Formats: sequence, C-alpha cells, structure tokens
Amino acid sequence: MILGHENTGEVVEVGRDVEFIKKGDLVSVPFNVSCGRCRNCREGHTEICMNVNPAIPCGAYGFNLGGWQGGQAEYMMVPYADFALLKFPDKDQAMEHILELTFLSDILPTGFHGCVIAGVKPGSTVYIAGAGPVGRAATASARLLGAWAIIVGDTNKERLAVVKKAGYEVVDISKTASLADQIEAIVGVREVDCGVDCVGFESHGYGPGAGEDSAAVLNGLLEVVRFGGGMGIPGVYIAGDLEACNETEKQGSYNLDFGKAWIKSPSLRAGQCPVVKYSRDLMMAILWGRMDYLSEVMNVEVVSLDRTIEAYRTFDEDSAKQFIIDPHNSLKKATIDRRVIFDRVPHSESIHK
Ligand SMILES: NC(=O)c1ccc[n+]([C@@H]2O[C@H](COP(=O)([O-])OP(=O)(O)OC[C@H]3O[C@@H](n4cnc5c(N)ncnc54)[C@H](O)[C@@H]3O)[C@@H](O)[C@H]2O)c1
Ligand SMILES: [Zn+2]
Repeated sequence: MILGHENTGEVVEVGRDVEFIKKGDLVSVPFNVSCGRCRNCREGHTEICMNVNPAIPCGAYGFNLGGWQGGQAEYMMVPYADFALLKFPDKDQAMEHILELTFLSDILPTGFHGCVIAGVKPGSTVYIAGAGPVGRAATASARLLGAWAIIVGDTNKERLAVVKKAGYEVVDISKTASLADQIEAIVGVREVDCGVDCVGFESHGYGPGAGEDSAAVLNGLLEVVRFGGGMGIPGVYIAGDLEACNETEKQGSYNLDFGKAWIKSPSLRAGQCPVVKYSRDLMMAILWGRMDYLSEVMNVEVVSLDRTIEAYRTFDEDSAKQFIIDPHNSLKKATIDRRVIFDRVPHSESIHK
C-alpha cells in the first residue's frame, strides 16, 4: 500500500471515459474516493460512497479502505476523475497560493466541517481540542466563519505556541486548572457555544501526568459545551484498535458521560469529512485572499520525496510542522514569489537550490 491521502497535482494522463478534466489541469484530490453516482454521493455524502469499497461504504487513498493507492509517490491514479477532482481555475493564480491549496484535499475541509457541524457562526465561542494539523486548520476555519473566541487545547507546547503566535487563545490541558477554569479565564464563563474534537480516540486525559484516555475529549466537550450547544467530531474513533486499553474500547465502545450531558440537549455530529462539499468554496476563499492567515497557523515545510522518511520521523514526535512532499520539485520550478516561500520554508532543500 502506497501511503498518502492528501494529494494535489497536475494531470499527466486521462482515461478513456474522462470527459472534462484535461491533461495539464492543476487539481486537488479529495481524500474520499467516491463515485458521484450512488445515493450517498448524490446526497453530498462522498465520505460514505457505496461503490468504492466492497467491505464498507467508505473509500480513501492510501488506507486500508478499498485498496486505493496513495499519492506519496511520483504518480497516482484517481477514479471517477470528472466528479472527484477539483480543478484550480487559473494555474498561475493557483501557483501563487499552492501551499495553502494543498490543504484542500483533507485537513482544511475537515477542520471546516468540524466547525460547521459544531454550529460555529459569527460571534460564536469555540473550543477546539487538539493543536495538530486538523485542529490548526479548524482554528482558521472558525475564524473564516466569524467566531469571536477561538480557544485551542493541547498538551503539546510547541504546537500551542504556533497557535498562540497566530493569534488564537490556547489552553494547556496538562495544567492543574480544569478545562472549564481555563475557558472561564479567557471568555468569562465556564462554557463555549461550540466544541470541535480534532483529537479522536488517541487522546490523553486532563491534568498533570494524565495518561491515555480515549474518551477524554468527548467527555471534556460534553462538559464545556453550553446547554443547547454543538459538538463536531471529525477526530477518528474506531473499532478494532489492537492497542486499545480494554476489550470494550477494542470493540469501539467508549466510556461516555452521556447521562450527565443528556439534559444539556447537545447536538453531536461525527464522521469523516465529505471533502467535495466544502473544497470549492474554501479554494475560492484561498485564491481571493480571504484566508491569508492560514499559512501561519499551519506552519508548513516542503520536502522532496527522498526526505519523506526524515519528515515522518519528525512528525511522529508530534512536530508543530506540517510537511508537504514535493515529488517532482514542482514548487522549485514554479513561477512563484520565492521570497514568500523562503520565509515559510527556510529548511526546504528544493527551494534553496
Ligand atoms: N473526519 C475526517 O475526515 C478526518 C480527516 C483527517 C483527520 N481526521 C482525524 O482527526 C484527528 C486529528 O488529526 P491530526 O492529524 O491533527 O492528529 P494529531 O495526532 O497530529 O494531533 C492530535 C493532537 O491532539 C492532542 N491531544 C491529545 N489528547 C488531547 C486532549 N484530551 N485534549 C486536547 N488535545 C489533545 C495531541 O497532543 C496532538 O497534538 C485524528 O483522529 C485524525 O485521524 C479525521
Ligand atoms: Zn458514490
């Protein structure tokens, strides 16, 4: 299996049945493999396409979800290309924003989806659990949606520092002060309108020295999201995790304080992001300078394909960087403002040469 579900590229060849996508087009590849023809796709639910994975209605590149090979390679194949691909309307304009446009295949729509299903709107207060790539993309999304207070929680100090520097509020959940205490210190009340889970089942608990606790984020959101508020859960919860703490969690059941929370009438939505639902709108926002604040919080470094292993090692240590692999050194060849790229990716060999 070739890894790589977040792909952006140039079309080098089109199959016999492709009518509208042309060789030379610059495109974003949504990470959900989807046919565009089944009932779910036609209802906008490309994350649960019924025709791309015989085992379960859900396909993705580079995972064990339908056997579709990923894009951490020189080339990849995209089925149902006319439906699936998002074409950038102008290549020169796209290359000026290409780093941000690479986020359209997954993390930006995912962070945005998390905010949308949590009900983020102008004036909202939002707590985003997790300062990883998805959490950082969610902060920028909450800002685009007009949220007033955007608070990000994590224990990773390096990641929190990036978020703080980009102008968002942060809470360190390893502190003795509870999550609600820390939220109160920022917005004056112990709750928020909306909570977004950008962590999933690999979460740890609250307070100094807390260990793994798969339900910590869900229970934390059930506590701090206001009565009648919304929870968006793009963070992944799975059945069959062999490293789960106990048999129940191995089956995908988590220990939720749902009885305590029920009276709050929460809205709660989870699942994979249907990328095509959002990616065109977010592309336009990027192309027309409405998300210029995105790069700072994403903290990108571009690496060549042969530096991928090194990038994986760094990322595995929960680095605050987001790596973009550039297999053909296209960024080097591109007619782009090198000064801007230089500032953003000082260690990128492909740009230095
Ligand atoms: N729904 C989708 O379509 C979709 C798409 C992409 C990613 N995801 C999922 O989103 C989640 C986040 O992805 P990522 O790449 O940013 O992950 P990541 O592992 O890089 O980041 C998660 C962060 O959460 C922090 N964390 C752990 N416990 C916490 C807690 N209790 N409170 C707050 N922060 C806590 C970690 O320190 C880490 O920095 C993962 O579960 C990923 O699989 C879902
Ligand atoms: Zn389908």
